[in-house]
Amino acid sequence: MAHFETNAIRTQTERTQYKEHSTPTFLTSSFTFDNAEHMRAMFAGEASGNIYSRYSNPSTNELVEKVCLMEGAEAGFTTASGMSAVFTSIIAFLKQGDHVIASRAVFGSTHQILTNILPRWGITFTYVDPTAVNTWEKAVQPNTKMLLVETPSNPGLTLIDMEAAGKFAKAHQLIFNVDNCFATPYLQQPIKYGADIVVHSATKWMDGQGRVLGGLIVGKEELMPEVQTFIRHSGPAMSPFNAWLISKSLETLAVRMDRHCSNALRLANYLEDHSEVNKVLYPHHPSHPQYDLGRKQMNQGGGIVTFEVKGGIERGSRFIDAIKMISISSNLGDARSIVTHPSSTTHSKLNTAECLAVGITPGLVRISVGLEHIDDIIGDIGQALAKSKQVLKIAI
Ligand SMILES: Cc1ncc(COP(=O)(O)O)c(C=O)c1O
Repeated sequence: MAHFETNAIRTQTERTQYKEHSTPTFLTSSFTFDNAEHMRAMFAGEASGNIYSRYSNPSTNELVEKVCLMEGAEAGFTTASGMSAVFTSIIAFLKQGDHVIASRAVFGSTHQILTNILPRWGITFTYVDPTAVNTWEKAVQPNTKMLLVETPSNPGLTLIDMEAAGKFAKAHQLIFNVDNCFATPYLQQPIKYGADIVVHSATKWMDGQGRVLGGLIVGKEELMPEVQTFIRHSGPAMSPFNAWLISKSLETLAVRMDRHCSNALRLANYLEDHSEVNKVLYPHHPSHPQYDLGRKQMNQGGGIVTFEVKGGIERGSRFIDAIKMISISSNLGDARSIVTHPSSTTHSKLNTAECLAVGITPGLVRISVGLEHIDDIIGDIGQALAKSKQVLKIAI
């Protein structure tokens, strides 16, 4: 089997009669059939090929094949966004009366699905402490069907011990569903630890340049018919254009992630020593409470650094206002560094207690560390820390 980088570059749709070098994009809603019998056989599943782009398309197929190779998965599907991947990966398998065990540290919209949407359909959930798999046993019910986790979590960078979680899921015959968006398959492959399903927001590091939305669900072949039925008939299809763009972006995922990670580690080191910073979190920094686990299951620490600026929420906002180069945006995983304030944006629907339970303090700042020169990233953050301190002094 070829190496990760080679698969990322050399997996592409069959070359057409035009002998193009770069993979083409198949912007077509539907496909044609040779005759009535061919059309019948295609719909009956007796012949293979593409019927309609809500079902499949060569561009989305290419992306699925590539991500399956990266994750060590057997099959998968693309979706229009990361959230449609998360939602599909839950709803395709569960029915009224079922129960989910979920890590408490999940993305804000995933929290909304669990707390606001699924209960309307009679699907319940129990949150568990992401850092203590040994306490999960008591959450198991006779109707529990799925274990849902995100590692590292957004934005608290809490890690799940995937080996222990995989054994737990297997012992209770639960579908083990891992959101691998923050790490990407370049840094960790949850299937190695027993994940049945891996979901991605391809909007983030996979696109890598903040252009399009996309999602993926990959995993065991035997689980895919349910996903296929849900996707075909409810329609969260990814645009072939987005699939083409994300697939091209994956050609450079490895080199981009190497630089995102080395920049992020340099920034974490800088912030750790800074007198205006209370706490820094980065999975491959020794100060992370789960550092050993981070080293064990992630090749590198990822591109996100979070920190708590001294002075709470007011200082946090002043810090963001003082930033000059880094973009103030809610996205992450871009070539451009981005600063976000989770408690007032992505996690604003959570109350204070819910935020604190997943490590989101009012002054927590999340940096998606980009590909600019690290000295310029550190320079901008350093000047904003200094300026926000001065403003605070004047204000007092
Ligand atoms: C861990 C995680 N999962 C899912 C999503 C949702 O992805 P999308 O915005 O592509 O719907 C996000 C978005 O930030 C995320 O961070």
